[in-house]
Amino acid sequence: MAEVGIFVGTVYGNALMVAEEAEMLLARQGHHVKVFEEGELSSWQYYRNHYVLVVTSTTGQGDLPDNIAPLFCELRDVVGFQPELKYGLIALGDSSYEKFCGAGKQFDALLQEQGATRVGKSLEIDSTVDMEPEKAAAGWIEAWGHLLK
Ligand SMILES: Cc1cc2nc3c(=O)[nH]c(=O)nc-3n(C[C@H](O)[C@H](O)[C@H](O)COP(=O)(O)O)c2cc1C
Repeated sequence: MAEVGIFVGTVYGNALMVAEEAEMLLARQGHHVKVFEEGELSSWQYYRNHYVLVVTSTTGQGDLPDNIAPLFCELRDVVGFQPELKYGLIALGDSSYEKFCGAGKQFDALLQEQGATRVGKSLEIDSTVDMEPEKAAAGWIEAWGHLLK
């Protein structure tokens, strides 16, 4: 079973609810899971040799929430290249904004640039469609958990 670090970017708590749902569903599959609400680089470095799941909403005009932006900057400015990293991505957003799920897309682009491997496709949750994002994510999370070794 895999070790999974879930790194959360949230303003109002929706992404945290999705992360906690993921923690529960992945743990039920036998994985060892930890949620980081104020993710630090030291925690991320540990999971580079395991699995990372990024769960982030978008704020402003396609921007990262304040609780995950510092980690993003450190990954970009300090880490540089991380080809051993395997990650999944759940992006929350609102399709009435021009940069739909912009924060999730920024994260995905950064990790791809850094040589990391995304496990499965990203999930985008649109708050104009899904009022309960944790329920919208459940099927994706279970399928993602089965891809982990
Ligand atoms: C001030 C503000 C700005 C937002 N900007 C965007 C945006 O640029 N792109 C987007 O897709 N969603 C945007 N959203 C929508 C949120 O990402 C969405 O409602 C999400 O579910 C919030 O999750 P959270 O509670 O984890 O922060 C914005 C919401 C607010 C309140």
